[in-house]
Amino acid sequence: MENRSLVTIADHSKEKILYLLEMAKQFELNPNRKLLDGRIVATLFFEPSTRTRLSFETAANRLGARVIGFADPKATSSSKGETLKDTIKMVSNYADIIVMRHYLEGAARWASEVTDTPIVNAGDGANQHPSQTMLDLYSIYKTQGTLENLNICLVGDLKYGRTVHSLLMAMRHFNPTFFFIAPDELKMPEEYKIYCKKHGIKYFESSDFSEELINKTDILYMTRVQRERFTDLMEYERVKNVYILRAKMLENTKPNLRILHPLPRVNEIAYDVDDTPQAYYFQQAKNGLFAREAILCDVLGITLEDIIEDNER
Ligand code: CP
Repeated sequence: MENRSLVTIADHSKEKILYLLEMAKQFELNPNRKLLDGRIVATLFFEPSTRTRLSFETAANRLGARVIGFADPKATSSSKGETLKDTIKMVSNYADIIVMRHYLEGAARWASEVTDTPIVNAGDGANQHPSQTMLDLYSIYKTQGTLENLNICLVGDLKYGRTVHSLLMAMRHFNPTFFFIAPDELKMPEEYKIYCKKHGIKYFESSDFSEELINKTDILYMTRVQRERFTDLMEYERVKNVYILRAKMLENTKPNLRILHPLPRVNEIAYDVDDTPQAYYFQQAKNGLFAREAILCDVLGITLEDIIEDNER
């Protein structure tokens, strides 16, 4: 049987991404559909989450599925030493989809290789966060009217931030120009710069977060410095407040500039930005529901045609 897991966004073609965005649009028009009636969705979160877990669970509920799972692995047999492989094989006996967040890079890939039950990667260490990327793309498309030819500025923790790694891979189809803004300690890893070169993605790197840069940007993608990934907390203390976006830095932006952030934020976006027309991060999180409804349907083989047919009922 074809395994329809979503492990990395790099597996998706341009056509597939646009198809999923069209599905998300349908779900925004009507999120409540019983397309997953009788299905069980398992959400296994080995790392903390607010948005990803709750929006996947909301998506499953709005689609008529039921949800099992855990948000705290300490309350499961993994705390007794059960391996990830055994946990996945067990949960596969109970659920039709497994949505999994794990602290180890490659954990979702590994899980997808030990079961035929579709795995949805809800974040694996500093590696990938493909469902976040689908909602980011949906947010970019909604605010810019296109995904093509955009100036995208990624700011903050580009070393450990899995959302920026996934986003740049997905954007390879859309001729972006990236600006990687990070301190030396948190620069975009070499493997992603090699990926950019291989796929003809233009990028510029700097540690200088200037208004001049903001003013030529279409999407300003802020990120949190990922405290949980540092082995040296003194280093975290040195870089944690390296960039703080404030409303006064937004006075001369392009009219279409929108600020995205996967959230949670810590200090990197001042609260006065929330009231500016450029702030879009809360709507972005809301878009997660529609994008994740699309993903849950897609991994179970439910098509855009099925959704459109559902509109006509
Ligand atoms: N954006 C994101 O992954 O948020 P959570 O960690 O709250 O799920």
